[in-house]
Amino acid sequence: LTCLLQQPWSPREMVCEENYMEVKSIAVCEIENALEVIPGTNLTLSAQGSEAGLREWRVVFRLPHQETGAMKEETVPVQMAHLLGYHVNTTQSRILLRCAYGSRLSYTVQMGIDVEVVTAMVLYKHQWMILKVDTSVACPTRTLEGSHVVWSFPQVFSALVQPPFGNRGVRVGIENHFLSDCLANQRGYQVLERGGTVEIQVPFGAEGGLLKSHVNNNQYSQSYFIDLFYLHQWQDAQWTLTQQRTFRPLYLVQLPRTPVLINNTVPAEGVFSLILGAFPHDVSLVNITVGGHPVAWVEADGLGLKLSHVPFPNGTHGYLLEVPFPHPVVSQKYLGDQYRKYTLSVVFSFIISPQAQLYHHTATVESDVQDVVLPSVEARCTQRGVQLLLHYGNIDWQWEVYVGGLRLDWELVELGGYTVSAQVDHLSMEVPLYSPGMTYEGLGLQGLAVSVQMTIKHKDTGEEQIHTHQCVFPVRELLVCLPDGEMVVLIDMSSVVPPVDPKWVTLLDPACGPLFTDGTQALFSFNVDSCGTMKVVSWTCSHLDINKCFKCSYNLIASLEIPVGCVHPANGTRTLGIYQPHSLPPLPHASHSRKSRTPRSARARKRPFWIGQSDSLARLALELTGDF
Ligand SMILES: *[C@@H]1O[C@H](CO)[C@@H](O)[C@H](O)[C@H]1NC(C)=O
Ligand SMILES: *[C@@H]1O[C@H](CO)[C@@H](O)[C@H](O)[C@H]1NC(C)=O
Ligand SMILES: *[C@@H]1O[C@H](CO)[C@@H](O)[C@H](O)[C@H]1NC(C)=O
Ligand SMILES: *[C@@H]1O[C@H](CO)[C@@H](O)[C@H](O)[C@H]1NC(C)=O
Ligand SMILES: *[C@@H]1O[C@H](CO)[C@@H](O)[C@H](O)[C@H]1NC(C)=O
Ligand SMILES: *[C@@H]1O[C@H](CO)[C@@H](O)[C@H](O)[C@H]1NC(C)=O
Repeated sequence: LTCLLQQPWSPREMVCEENYMEVKSIAVCEIENALEVIPGTNLTLSAQGSEAGLREWRVVFRLPHQETGAMKEETVPVQMAHLLGYHVNTTQSRILLRCAYGSRLSYTVQMGIDVEVVTAMVLYKHQWMILKVDTSVACPTRTLEGSHVVWSFPQVFSALVQPPFGNRGVRVGIENHFLSDCLANQRGYQVLERGGTVEIQVPFGAEGGLLKSHVNNNQYSQSYFIDLFYLHQWQDAQWTLTQQRTFRPLYLVQLPRTPVLINNTVPAEGVFSLILGAFPHDVSLVNITVGGHPVAWVEADGLGLKLSHVPFPNGTHGYLLEVPFPHPVVSQKYLGDQYRKYTLSVVFSFIISPQAQLYHHTATVESDVQDVVLPSVEARCTQRGVQLLLHYGNIDWQWEVYVGGLRLDWELVELGGYTVSAQVDHLSMEVPLYSPGMTYEGLGLQGLAVSVQMTIKHKDTGEEQIHTHQCVFPVRELLVCLPDGEMVVLIDMSSVVPPVDPKWVTLLDPACGPLFTDGTQALFSFNVDSCGTMKVVSWTCSHLDINKCFKCSYNLIASLEIPVGCVHPANGTRTLGIYQPHSLPPLPHASHSRKSRTPRSARARKRPFWIGQSDSLARLALELTGDF
């Protein structure tokens, strides 16, 4: 193979190759016994092509004595030099010496770094002269490799230089191309001069080299290869120009390189945005697994996931994944105070060519955002009771709902006769008056005041929202038996004949008048121990067809002879009882007791009063009245 020189060789050309060193010195020589030849004259070498001429050559090696360290000379015939592994030959105008590293008669010196040196002179006869050509050569032998390639050279190869030394500069190149300072900088290479050495640093993976991926036990690693060369030119007393070129392919083998996750998520935009990289060409993404679901590249778009390839300026590439926060593969956790945590877990699956090895990389990103719309409650009073609208809000339903302190479930809905209908964004529910969940607030001339309390409690955070809504239901007549023994009675006298002023109506004890009155109604409130109230302490209950015994307290609205009574379990917890005169179907054996919705006359005075939500209690109350 014949190649043209890009630049003419300098008088002394030195090459430090991967496995040998070489010098080609132009035969400008020192002359011993010079008679006619002027120093510096070029010679045409007669040895060229002539084995006979070459045979007479001698090579003088200089090297330090093993014990004393003093320099000694060893002169060997050129054939001997050949046997020692030194290639010595000529071209038309040059003498060439080439040897492997570590050859005998070479030695190592410290010039800031270890340098292997061969100091040699070739002596040959030219006509009647003995000519002597310097064929010394020196090369640095070691490179340091870690997370960077570090390559050092002496600023001055002292063994090769005869002062004065004139530096003509250094240049760095890759694969036979020089790099401009600008490009070297851009790629992160550094050329530093320190302590008499020139140090070249190339970061692992820097552009200009080759990266190769590996996977072992799902551990991703990379090897790096770069073919660097270094050119150094100088002049000295002996040589107008020496050019030394050093070539070294450098490998950094299997450095663990965990891919980097770049988290570009901006919480305000509501989208997870991540880039995983940077990979060399031999790595490509096959699919991803999000929220436990495998998704092939091609499916991602259809599922509302954005997956794309991102090329980087330095020749590597990465992958961009964008997932909106509300996407089903994103998990959410309510943190309280309207904050929620969105978490995206993704496994990227890569294939590494050409071996088709698989590599899985797991990444988890999260974002806390105060974007929670909490469930809310709206309430309004209806004719039947209280209507509650429970708006779900925009968070996973992890809430427990209580109505009047009772856990809302289907049992309660049935028991209370609630009317429930579920909509897309809310639940509508009507809690009827007198049903469990309602709280008695008071009875007045305006009517019966009740409230419904709806409590929403988060299962994890315990965060609680309490909504209380009060309604007043107009009633004309009502009896309330309170657990503490208080009896509250509202009666309507509008249809009593002859008309009676409610102000003058009393209980059995004439001192106990109404608390409030208006033109037609009177409101009494008294304790079972007062106002002449009578008690039946041990009631005979066998004929009542119920299992428990009851205790009854009764009084009489005296002037109208209306008996009012409250019935409680003989022993056991007393409960609130509300009794109204309008809602009870007449009992077969108590037909005399109630003529509902008919205009009342004074004869209808002994009507039963206490009719309530608890059926058994209401029946008992009727029986009681009947006996009066
Ligand atoms: C010696 O040879 C070199 C390169 O071949 C050339 O540049 C130079 O002029 C020659 N010198 C003389 C004195 O001929
Ligand atoms: C010297 O070089 C010539 C020409 O390239 C070649 O023919 C010859 O074999 C070489 N001699 C040795 C000893 O290598
Ligand atoms: C290449 O560029 C990417 C993105 O800027 C960067 O993450 C990566 O480290 C670069 N690789 C090398 C070897 O410099
Ligand atoms: C994902 O890629 C891996 C490797 O090719 C394959 O084993 C797996 O079945 C793929 N899953 C899906 C859902 O495509
Ligand atoms: C990713 O970015 C989000 C939003 O800036 C931030 O809250 C989160 O801590 C980042 N890191 C991870 C590992 O999710
Ligand atoms: C009430 O108490 C008495 C005696 O203390 C007992 O004999 C009776 O069984 C109790 N009744 C009920 C209904 O618990």
